[in-house]
Amino acid sequence: MSTPTAAKSMDEIVALCKRRGFIFPASEIYGGINGFWDYGPLGVELKNNLRDAWWHDMVRCPPAGPDGEQLEIVGLDSAIIQNPKVWEASGHVGGFNDPMVDDKETKQRFRADHLQGFFLDVTPDKPSKTAASGHTIPLCTVVASNPSEAVAILIEQPKLIKPWRIQKAVPHRKDQIRVALKDQDGTSGFGIVFAIEREFLEHAPNEIPSPFTANTGALTPPRQFNLMFETWYGAIKSDEYKTYLRPETAQGLFLNYKNILDTMRVKVPFGIAQIGKAFRNEVNPRNFIYRSREFEQMEMEWFCRPEDAPKWFEFWQQQRLSWWKSLGLSDDNLTIRQHDEDELSHYAQGGAGTVDIEYRFPFTHPGFAELEGIAHRTDFDLKAHQEHARVKLEYFDQERNKRYIPHVVEPAAGLTRGVLALICEAYTPDPDRPSKVFLRFHPRLAPIQAAVFPLVAKNDMPQQAENLYQQLRKKYATRFDIKQSIGKRYARMDESGTPFCFTIDGQTLADQTVTVRDRDDCSQQRIGIAQVAGFLADRMGG
Ligand code: GAP
Repeated sequence: MSTPTAAKSMDEIVALCKRRGFIFPASEIYGGINGFWDYGPLGVELKNNLRDAWWHDMVRCPPAGPDGEQLEIVGLDSAIIQNPKVWEASGHVGGFNDPMVDDKETKQRFRADHLQGFFLDVTPDKPSKTAASGHTIPLCTVVASNPSEAVAILIEQPKLIKPWRIQKAVPHRKDQIRVALKDQDGTSGFGIVFAIEREFLEHAPNEIPSPFTANTGALTPPRQFNLMFETWYGAIKSDEYKTYLRPETAQGLFLNYKNILDTMRVKVPFGIAQIGKAFRNEVNPRNFIYRSREFEQMEMEWFCRPEDAPKWFEFWQQQRLSWWKSLGLSDDNLTIRQHDEDELSHYAQGGAGTVDIEYRFPFTHPGFAELEGIAHRTDFDLKAHQEHARVKLEYFDQERNKRYIPHVVEPAAGLTRGVLALICEAYTPDPDRPSKVFLRFHPRLAPIQAAVFPLVAKNDMPQQAENLYQQLRKKYATRFDIKQSIGKRYARMDESGTPFCFTIDGQTLADQTVTVRDRDDCSQQRIGIAQVAGFLADRMGG
């Protein structure tokens, strides 16, 4: 690919996550369940560290406002299951749909906006065909959320575009990538990988080859599919008792807006924040944990005066972008993208808009995909709940002697998706070290922050190491490891992303110093054993 950095291998990242106990497929011994994941011992530590960093930086110690003022954000933990009327008022029962297409032959299903086509652009012998509708008929299709991901699939499965192989890919027009091709005789050609237009799928699904069999005539036109998981409360499984698992944590924040106003002495502008599980019956869960059916969100609703909303919208975009950078995501891999009018959520229509903070995941490389959305939700939700629940949700602004419904700016981040971005960013191949790879986590987030080793299991080394370990573990996630060679122990810690290893050796017994081995450059230095806790504290940041 003609981009500055090559994509990391998603297969290798997934394998490392399994091998080192970060993430396992849910129900694995029963063959798994698509779209669900379990977080292993290191995964849950990493996820909790990211969760705690967000809570600390948003609720306990939020940033100063645009004029240097102290911001007020309070926390909440609302129920996953709420009165079903909530989801009618919020628009999720009527509007939280994805268009889905079925393959009538294989009974497989995919999202209409996730179909990417490949056609030959300029080749000596095979011009592309055009449908009656005027669209170019693809030679083949793949299910992928964007053309970059489709290119990656076509590189991995060249039989789909046989006899061609992709040599190079460059961005073309919006939603298109132009690829240079070669066949086994060395003949060159060009192809285009493009997002299949919705209109094409709606009017001529029979002309489009299936992504599963390449047969034409197998696809249905797109149909709406509601993403909420249904469930029933109580003993009677009838419509009267039907409700939903929440598809976003946000509604709990709106439902408690009045409780917070009545109990917490907050004044507009203020925020309410929560972290928790959300559930969406995604049509195509994919890309490891990126799009799951059960996931976690970190959301904050910022209630402000309507006329101040544009200022806060801008403020939260910059804050959230710099927050992700502060955790080690690189500038190059982050971007902010404005939503087009046709992709705005039901609550953001007519508002000042929505932007996504996007990350360059290996499976979207060289493109980007959403990590966090920031929406100006206007007064949509409070107004809807006021109407449906028949409860006044106006705010009385004492300063201006005025009643109004506040506008809301919402930074909505994915916790589990954030974990994936952190792992992808941290994953660093290094052929020169025994592990061949290490995870360069920010020390604040690393699932193991320090490891303590006796160089060998003799003299007083194990005891001294044990003492240091007992001291550090009170404050930091620390491992003690006595087994195998020191090289193998470093390799294990490199793959786990442990930033610092402290080794007790013969010299320790003489002068009470230890070696500190730095994960990123493998350098070693000696510091006093009494300085170790301070050394770690200085490097945790946050
Ligand atoms: N309350 C607004 C809201 O829910 P969203 O853009 O649909 O907005 C916010 O979701 C964030 O939640 C996304 O940016 C993403 O990080 C995460 N997210 C959404 N759907 C997800 C899924 N199926 N799997 C993992 N994370 C998801």
